[in-house]
Amino acid sequence: MTTQPSDPAGLPTADRTLTDRVLASFDATPSPRLRAVMQSLVSHLHAFASDVRLTEEEWAAAVSFLTRAGQISDDRRQELILLSDVLGLSMLVVGINHPASAAATDSTVVGPFFVENAPEFANGDDISGGAAGEPCFYSGRVLSAAGTPIAGARIEVWHSDDEGNYDVQYAQLDGAQGRGRLRSEADGRYRFSSVLPVPYPIPHDGPVGELLDAAKRDSMRPAHVHFRVSAPGFATLTTHVFVAGDPYLGSDAVFGEKDSLVRTFVRHDPGPAPDGRVLGTAFFTMAFDFVLDVADSV
Ligand SMILES: [Fe+2]
Repeated sequence: MTTQPSDPAGLPTADRTLTDRVLASFDATPSPRLRAVMQSLVSHLHAFASDVRLTEEEWAAAVSFLTRAGQISDDRRQELILLSDVLGLSMLVVGINHPASAAATDSTVVGPFFVENAPEFANGDDISGGAAGEPCFYSGRVLSAAGTPIAGARIEVWHSDDEGNYDVQYAQLDGAQGRGRLRSEADGRYRFSSVLPVPYPIPHDGPVGELLDAAKRDSMRPAHVHFRVSAPGFATLTTHVFVAGDPYLGSDAVFGEKDSLVRTFVRHDPGPAPDGRVLGTAFFTMAFDFVLDVADSV
């Protein structure tokens, strides 16, 4: 058996030549950014395949995995975002692109359940849409990093019901549940009611679930509410508020958790609620101020 000569990077010379040829094939790409991205991708992809000595069976399995991830995705489910999430790629990209100032609210993953053009609500409305769960009243302010109120900020919110499901996971459900859009008032305040979110497993009936099973990884996310907050002149904030005391804090399947985003959801006995009603069941309140950086300030 003869051994192939290797270059300092450890690649056989024949493979190194192949890599160089593929890199050169992108030399004439008009967009400098596309050229840089593709050449870096090729370099890392070739180095990765060489590093693990990728077999043809593994290559075919990867192709099948990605094909099935695409086929199971539609306008209500996004398996490829989920894949990015469980690989930590989503949080890496968030960190690269949203290095919040010390004063601003931290960002986290958007996740696979965001829907554009959710129903519009006024402050004080119930956005649950009939979602099952314990009543919860949400309030707070939208502020600049300097502490001044931001009026008219767009607040988009979405969360699970008490089964841990989002509305889009119910095939028969037409309307939105636990999902809506509202705007901050003149003093930056917002308020709405809905239900208390619970911890939930990320969808594991598809290729990503197979991967988690194969790796003996937990699929649970700690209970949280998603928010996207935007206002002219400010950097759009995509974040969660996590429920303090949740047993899955510290082991988020998609690595989206941050200590700064954990809040106490206060339990109240039956009685007068923040919206003026007298509730016959226990309810919760949560307060969170969103602090936005000025656009391109960091
Ligand atoms: Fe979520």
